[in-house]
Amino acid sequence: MLARRVLEIAAAGALTLALGTSLAIASADDAIRGRQGCMKAHGKTVGELFSMFKGEKAYDNAAVQATLTEMDAACADWDKWWGSDAQKGETLKTWAKPEVWSDPDGFAAAGKAFYDKYLAIKATTDEAGFKATLPEFANTCKGCHERYRRPKE
Ligand code: HEC
Repeated sequence: MLARRVLEIAAAGALTLALGTSLAIASADDAIRGRQGCMKAHGKTVGELFSMFKGEKAYDNAAVQATLTEMDAACADWDKWWGSDAQKGETLKTWAKPEVWSDPDGFAAAGKAFYDKYLAIKATTDEAGFKATLPEFANTCKGCHERYRRPKE
């Protein structure tokens, strides 16, 4: 559950700062690979959902559920990816901004806003509800990116 994870990260971040310890993942590259893979799954899911929104694909609640579940599964290790020693990769580039680490509460709040809308869209069962919720869900991606992500070079 992302919301729970986000809260754990905030707590873990504070603990990391207090103890000056490093996070329990092999390397910063692994963390970056993990979170970028999760985000690619987000992009894929939102693309699929908007193709139903626009009528390029027929609305199908089972397909909505399946892609949302797949997206969530790709992010299962979320809490391992944002430790203070994963701000810069050994070899990989990251587009996460320093604000992720300087403002962990704001980052956690953006994650929670996202997760609330994830639950809302997952709870929809018909096309009207789906279409009413998708833009709000997608706005929460933007809400986090605007403050915590640099555009890709
Ligand atoms: C809580 C913050 C947050 C939320 C919510 C969020 N993102 Fe992201 N996203 C990021 C950060 C930070 C990065 C940069 C990660 C990096 O480069 O290390 C990123 C990167 C990405 C990327 C680029 C991945 C790559 O490297 O190829 C895509 C695509 C993306 N996000 C899509 C989405 C979509 C779609 C949503 C909503 C369904 C979303 N994100 C929600 C923070 C967020």
